[in-house]
Amino acid sequence: MLLILWADPTVNERVEREKIRERLGSRIAVPTLPRVTRRVKNVLASPNIGLREVAAALATDPPLASRLLRNVNSAFYGFDHPILDLNHACAIVGLHGLERMMNGAPTLDRPGSSMGATIRHSVLQAQMCTLLCRLAPGARGQRGRGRVDPRAMYLQGLLHDIGRFAMIEALGQEYEDVVEAARASRQSVEVAEARAFGFAHTELGAMLIKRWGLPDELALAARHHHNPRELGETDLPIAILYVADLVASPNPPHSGAGLERVISPGMLELLGLGREELGMLLRIAGDRRDALTV
Ligand SMILES: [Fe+2]
Ligand SMILES: [Fe+2]
Repeated sequence: MLLILWADPTVNERVEREKIRERLGSRIAVPTLPRVTRRVKNVLASPNIGLREVAAALATDPPLASRLLRNVNSAFYGFDHPILDLNHACAIVGLHGLERMMNGAPTLDRPGSSMGATIRHSVLQAQMCTLLCRLAPGARGQRGRGRVDPRAMYLQGLLHDIGRFAMIEALGQEYEDVVEAARASRQSVEVAEARAFGFAHTELGAMLIKRWGLPDELALAARHHHNPRELGETDLPIAILYVADLVASPNPPHSGAGLERVISPGMLELLGLGREELGMLLRIAGDRRDALTV
């Protein structure tokens, strides 16, 4: 099956792929793990619960965080500016609204799925984005560019791979096999997805974010986080996402020097990062990766 998919697609296959992409890109929600929704429901059911605790729980799950942001930025609430703060979003929706939201949240419980790994990667990526906002002189406004907002970067990191959740659910084991084969041969997952299915999680993620009415910076993060060159390598948030993604990947480089070799000199200059800081990022990511549970 895999061999057929990797061959040039016929016209019918292309039409079929386009239909799948359109169907996935028009979804109103993507699934998370049942144990994640149980954990958030338990937080909501706890006595004397504060909205901050609920927001903190939602901030560790991309599908649920995106569901909340889609709700609060919908025409129903009618705000004339985007709401991108999960604490603020929880306060607007309220405990009853959050309970209703949780009751309708889709889940996927399929043995062997990479859903849990994708959630952990997304949270680690988001944490590395905020760390880079504090650590990189370029992100702190010391390279002649504006300061980057760590909260905004956390959300961009959390949702950067949102397209993968839709692909994991809809394409099943075939998707897992394509990603696994790409990683094993150190090929680009994005390129492997496009070859096998006609579209990549980057394109699909940007489509979903736009359909959900969320701001362009989140769609740009989803679209370009593997290829900052598409934006000329001068976009500071995309540079942060790119480095955070390398650090939070399942197979990161082993040392600061190794990481330095895969990042262009222009981007290192933009961020103001050297080998030493990159090594520190890798060590912190390693510690946090071990502590992440989903
Ligand atoms: Fe990605
Ligand atoms: Fe990623």
